[in-house]
Amino acid sequence: MRISVVLIDDESVIRKATRQWLNLAGMDVDDFSNAQDALAKLNANTNAVIVSDIKMPGMDGMEFARRCNLIDSDLPVLLVTAHGDIRMAVAAIRGGVYDFIEKPVEPELLVDRIQRAWEKRQLVLENRKLKRIVDHGASLEHRIIGRSKTMMYLRQQILMLAETPVDVVIKGATGTGKELVAGSLHEGSKRADKPFVAVNCGAIPESLFESELFGHEKGAFTSAGGKRIGKLEHAQGGTLFLDEVESMPLNFQVKLLRVLQERKLERLGSNQQIDLDLWIIAATKVDLRDAADRGEFREDLYYRFNVAEITLPDLTEHQSDIPLLFDYFAGKAAAQFEREYLPPSDEDIAALMSYPWPGNVRELKNIAERYILGIGHHRTINALLGKETAPQPVDADSLSDRTQQYERELIVQSLRRHHGNIQAVMNDLELPRRTLNNKMLQYDLKRRDFVE
Ligand SMILES: Nc1ncnc2c1ncn2[C@@H]1O[C@H](COP(=O)(O)OP(=O)(O)OP(=O)(O)O)[C@@H](O)[C@H]1O
Ligand SMILES: [Mg+2]
Repeated sequence: MRISVVLIDDESVIRKATRQWLNLAGMDVDDFSNAQDALAKLNANTNAVIVSDIKMPGMDGMEFARRCNLIDSDLPVLLVTAHGDIRMAVAAIRGGVYDFIEKPVEPELLVDRIQRAWEKRQLVLENRKLKRIVDHGASLEHRIIGRSKTMMYLRQQILMLAETPVDVVIKGATGTGKELVAGSLHEGSKRADKPFVAVNCGAIPESLFESELFGHEKGAFTSAGGKRIGKLEHAQGGTLFLDEVESMPLNFQVKLLRVLQERKLERLGSNQQIDLDLWIIAATKVDLRDAADRGEFREDLYYRFNVAEITLPDLTEHQSDIPLLFDYFAGKAAAQFEREYLPPSDEDIAALMSYPWPGNVRELKNIAERYILGIGHHRTINALLGKETAPQPVDADSLSDRTQQYERELIVQSLRRHHGNIQAVMNDLELPRRTLNNKMLQYDLKRRDFVE
């Protein structure tokens, strides 16, 4: 990798000369005539050695170095000082500045110092990266649950992509964890402290796409009203999550592609361009390749997004994770709702394993929560999974016993459906409040057992 240098000097002659020396030594140089402009380009991930003059109008080199230190105390700054100014040099080193070099600057000495500072910077960044991977790996284990091969592979893919953030498409059926994975990618990346902005393309009316995503100036179109910052701008420096990307209107796809390629955004009604820096993560329930073949998704946009692809399996494809996932969600729900957690019986587990899970992990999570909330109620998982919709009279012989059992079951189901909302149950069963109260008393049903 070529060494990168950020050079700041207000005198253009010196700047040009220094730049030439460094270029000859095989270095890339980004030069600035003042410290403010340079500061705007620096961040904690900057991989460059900074070389700055001290005496400059506006912000001087000392102040600049202090600001660099605030951005990242490990940013290597080399200050060029006038001959013999020891006092200043001492203060600079105390203030955390990496190094200083005396004028007149010897080209070879400068190159040598930059090289050493660069090597040190590489070590710092490499260590940070390793630490990030280890931390992220540990937190992923707690966020994305599952010991099946597919889940292990998924966590590996996330770790890798978070480090090399190329645009990603996450494909999977409902409830398989697309949003969870997108969030985890962002959290593990260098953009973690920048915004993660989710846009549900399926929920935006076609006519509003442009203003929602690009934003608009006051009065840009008839109904525009005040100025609006679009989602792309909100996500600046961070991650834009385009959920249900298959529902993005074709004519908008063209516009988005152009903005992403040029990496420049103009709000509607404005001709001021904003430099965009975004990581795009898209999610889809359909096969975008097929959608592109059918002409329902733009091929060029498909290639732009689909640099990497993550496919999430249906829950039934990693069935072995079901008990673990159930335990994870039930444990969390028990803590959240302050309920006791009685682990599921063997029959319960068997029921969980044989259920087809059309709603995938989200459905499993719901069932686990309801299991916890209903635990004082002798609910079996089978009942929760809707296999026992019809009441099963066991030891009720008389018609009246059976009728009562059936009645009780209907009230229980309605209470469950409406999470203990009495008014809703009254409407549902067309019962006056007093009758419902009496029946609940009679059947020993308590509203609070159904509230979530
Ligand atoms: N492997 C997993 N470990 C822990 N939680 C998971 C896992 N997979 C999914 N979840 C949880 O399941 C729920 C559904 O996941 P998510 O919302 O990410 O699904 P989705 O694919 O975006 O669904 P949809 O297409 O319906 O929007 C979330 O609460 C999520 O945290
Ligand atoms: Mg989702």
